[in-house]
Amino acid sequence: MAFATDAVHAGEEPVFTGGASGDVVVPIHLSSTFARKDVDAPTGGYEYSRSGNPTRFMLEKKLAAIEGAAYGLAFSSGLAAETTVGLSLLKKDDHVVAFDDLYGGTRRLFNTVFHDNYGVGFSYVDARNPENVKSAIKRNTRFIWLESPTNPLIRLCDIREISGISHDAGIPVIVDNTFASPYFQQPIALGADIVVHSTTKYINGHSDSVGGAVILSDEDLYQKIRFNQNAAGAILSPFDSFLVARGIKTLALRMERHMKNALAIAEYLAGHEKVREVSYPGLPSHPQHALAQKQMSGFSGMVSFELKGGKAEARRFLKNLNLFALAESLGGVESLIEHPATMTHASIPKNEREKVGVKDSLVRVSVGIENAEDLIADLEQALATI
Ligand SMILES: Cc1ncc(COP(=O)(O)O)c(C=O)c1O
Repeated sequence: MAFATDAVHAGEEPVFTGGASGDVVVPIHLSSTFARKDVDAPTGGYEYSRSGNPTRFMLEKKLAAIEGAAYGLAFSSGLAAETTVGLSLLKKDDHVVAFDDLYGGTRRLFNTVFHDNYGVGFSYVDARNPENVKSAIKRNTRFIWLESPTNPLIRLCDIREISGISHDAGIPVIVDNTFASPYFQQPIALGADIVVHSTTKYINGHSDSVGGAVILSDEDLYQKIRFNQNAAGAILSPFDSFLVARGIKTLALRMERHMKNALAIAEYLAGHEKVREVSYPGLPSHPQHALAQKQMSGFSGMVSFELKGGKAEARRFLKNLNLFALAESLGGVESLIEHPATMTHASIPKNEREKVGVKDSLVRVSVGIENAEDLIADLEQALATI
């Protein structure tokens, strides 16, 4: 089925048998446990809600369908999803190669939990050049971890080429697909092995649920991660599962509007005298515009840019906006704006942050689905204050 059809129907085919009521929307199954008629016969396979819940299973089928994969798993946050992948694939003294431009919380998890507690080594490389990934692979490297586009610099890496390199070395590739959403990019079709999401962002899309997902097609890897999802326990609640599934139904429509607005804003900012540099893969001036056209079907709604000046100018600009909420997170219907150096990426030491390019003058925008002219008018008046 096409994306928009799966987004609405996958996992929610009405059931007419066995006293079922033919719901067109799977109900929120709040029951924490499930009664059975005999000790070894769980009803419908359900035992206890951490191990399996009908509302979460519906969402997990939908997540798999929209990424073009066989299996989906829903977690209580994007970081819970990432942690469970790490618990499933890493042992003490293993090694990981990761893109050097990553969500700050991912880097914090890698450095302070997997590295400091378990001795896992991380090589952060500029994956815009696949050769950097290749030369960082060691004998004990267990996987390659990528984001594309990245948070916050909106850089890309060639998922197909890096998947080829890593498969030659016999290791899987994991792609955090949060910024693109499965509507604009399907890493598994490009050769990646595992996709992770913060469903908190575009997938839920309404800034009212924190959640995460792991999506994959390999049966063995799925069984391993599913085992640890239950063993470690960071599952998505039935109510949040319902919200995320509801959000997915409009993902195609929302992403088209996010992109249309983001392109208008990126073009406006690129022509503004107080703006130094705009990063949006839909602009022909983005150094990886051609790669974006090749591996994405659209450019999503995230834009970052550098203001002329430094932190003081960035602060004044952000303080004077009225429509854009000054807030962390992204991917909701409402436009959000933030200062990565003091907000989402504050957990990365300043020297590491600046080495990658996250400067004090950098601003990140999650462009919502409001009217583009209203958004541009708000940017215009705030830029006029600096
Ligand atoms: C790209 C990316 N991955 C993962 C996460 C973590 O997700 P969560 O906040 O749902 O734990 C975030 C959060 O901002 C993110 O931006």
